Amino acid sequence: MNTAKSVIILVSCFLHFKCSISVANPNVDCLKSTTLEDAVSCFDKYTVKKDSYTQETYALAQPTSIERTAWKFVIHSLLSVDGSCDSVKLPEPLVDIYTISQFTDLSGPSYCVLSEVRTTEAGQYNKGWGLFITPSIPDDVKRDLHISAPHPAYDLNTPQQAVALFKSVGARSLLIDGRSRLALMQPSQCVESTEKATYYVTDPAHNKEEPFYDATRAIFDWQSSNGGCPSNHCAFIQLHGKGASTCPMDQMFVSAGLGTDPASLDWYATSPAKPFNLLLSSLQLAFPTWNVSSPLTSPCELTATKNVVGRFLNGVRDELVCSTPADPSVQEVEGYFVHVEQSMEARWKEAYVGWAKALKEAFEEVV
Ligand SMILES: *[C@@H]1O[C@H](CO)[C@@H](O)[C@H](O)[C@H]1NC(C)=O
Repeated sequence: MNTAKSVIILVSCFLHFKCSISVANPNVDCLKSTTLEDAVSCFDKYTVKKDSYTQETYALAQPTSIERTAWKFVIHSLLSVDGSCDSVKLPEPLVDIYTISQFTDLSGPSYCVLSEVRTTEAGQYNKGWGLFITPSIPDDVKRDLHISAPHPAYDLNTPQQAVALFKSVGARSLLIDGRSRLALMQPSQCVESTEKATYYVTDPAHNKEEPFYDATRAIFDWQSSNGGCPSNHCAFIQLHGKGASTCPMDQMFVSAGLGTDPASLDWYATSPAKPFNLLLSSLQLAFPTWNVSSPLTSPCELTATKNVVGRFLNGVRDELVCSTPADPSVQEVEGYFVHVEQSMEARWKEAYVGWAKALKEAFEEVV
């Protein structure tokens, strides 16, 4: 039905030579869904697409410093929600930009959804800071897992996979970016591009000015002041998708954002009780016919050493995340940043059951 609807919108958009979608508030459409998965898939359509911004329109879409503070504050508050999403007040600077809704899934649990209220003429998020979801009842949180999809509209199906896993394992938070990593096709001033790879401004893994980075920091702050992130039930899991020709032997390539230098390889080899290793082992058990690899077992270069979220979670100070990789001989690396690169089959629906089983086995329920 969603497909049929999109086709109608597309056809009417071409007939009118102007692609404006009549639904200006994504929530009107998306919150009618019966499952959280359908709601997230609906929101996914509003992601700011490749090459949508100019420098000017991007600057307008970025949060002011007051809005950025409010954005972090509301994310922090939503993690402490106690039953009713109404109890979390949207900070004043965000009232015309975001909304908090309580969404009850067909299967019973209800969630607080922080989502944008406006689109552009082209039917994309007006701001694109991201979508953030928490269970509204603390008892529904089974694990201190923070699941995120930083690359919607690019790493296909990762938002859908992220919400399915978030729901089925009782995770504490779900964060999905609102912009394609290619939304502004200018190089990031944070992590420098190389001859082999261009890192764009709107790629939240390589630019700390993206609101996704602030959101992760707010989640991390909350977790730090609420028991910390104990290895046996807590992790920050970033879901990615790789092209078929990149690291073709690996269905999953799991890393902690460290490199392949001796200190990092030693860390990988000698830290068996870190969230990273716990998830790696349980994914290997859940998918025995696949190559579920790590920097110890695969030459794959998608090691996430330049991922600014990973650097921050691995102990690099905020001021340094653009320039400085995490180094286990310098910082205490806790291993709660888990970066998973996946082939299409690994992020497809058929793998959700195995994935959820692996997460449940790797991480104990909170008591
Ligand atoms: C796993 O990797 C090996 C090489 O390291 C390769 O021969 C094999 O085909 C791969 N398996 C899968 C399922 O891709």
